[in-house]
Amino acid sequence: MSTNNTIFNIETINRYANMPVFAYDEIDSTNSAARRFLEEEADKAGIYESLFVADFQSAGRGRSGHSFYSPSHTGIYMSYFFTPKDGLMLASYATTKAAVVARKVLEESYGVNVGIKWINDLYVNNRKVSGILAEAHITGVNKGSVIVGIGINLTTEDFPDDIKSRAGSLAAMIDSKLLPSREEVIGKIAAGFSKEMADLSDKRYLEEYRRHCIILGKDISYEENGISCKAHAIDIADDAGLIVKMPDGSVRSLKSGEVSLIRTI
Ligand code: BTN
Repeated sequence: MSTNNTIFNIETINRYANMPVFAYDEIDSTNSAARRFLEEEADKAGIYESLFVADFQSAGRGRSGHSFYSPSHTGIYMSYFFTPKDGLMLASYATTKAAVVARKVLEESYGVNVGIKWINDLYVNNRKVSGILAEAHITGVNKGSVIVGIGINLTTEDFPDDIKSRAGSLAAMIDSKLLPSREEVIGKIAAGFSKEMADLSDKRYLEEYRRHCIILGKDISYEENGISCKAHAIDIADDAGLIVKMPDGSVRSLKSGEVSLIRTI
């Protein structure tokens, strides 16, 4: 079961990722499309994993209520949902697992060093090229699915003023004009998600996450209850939290939220 009224070649996506694909030229948000499908159709159709892709999102969503800029032809906007066999107990690992999978595919596809900024942003040359938004969808006691959405700036050049100084595109960072097709990259990421999410209790990926996390060993700032805090990022905990040392010497583990690097001049 797949739907395609778009410029995407689903056969190519399926060559890498064998799962239902729903492709759109334009949609509000692929995460929202996945959610609607889960609410209305997935159970009836007996579907436990699927991929939603769009060329343009009119209401792309990011974490903490932010929007995600999603112009046509220049990016990848995709959401993968799966129904974990053991319920949602370990669902929180999906977000960091997704970052590790996507980082590797992008690095191999574009030949650039891609770093992870805890918790789920991908960076190249100090610019954010990708963000991940994972959402749980609860269908009953001990039952539910996880929607993992990822947006990747491939060739986007003009960003809105509020993100202009931080956002970047993968293609702008490389010389080669020989870019892989969007379908190939989408298919490889979806295949990686499917493989990695099959066992959420497998935490071996955390070593790779730590190796590529660009904030470890650096001074960071974050907000808590409206107050700006400074800390030194030390490590990633086994529950994927960020272990930080506070100015008073105490050590804490942050579970969520947005952190920023404090740049020294
Ligand atoms: C972030 O940077 O805070 C996360 C951005 C996540 C964007 C992707 S694009 C595909 C999927 N659909 C959405 O509406 N959001 C995610």
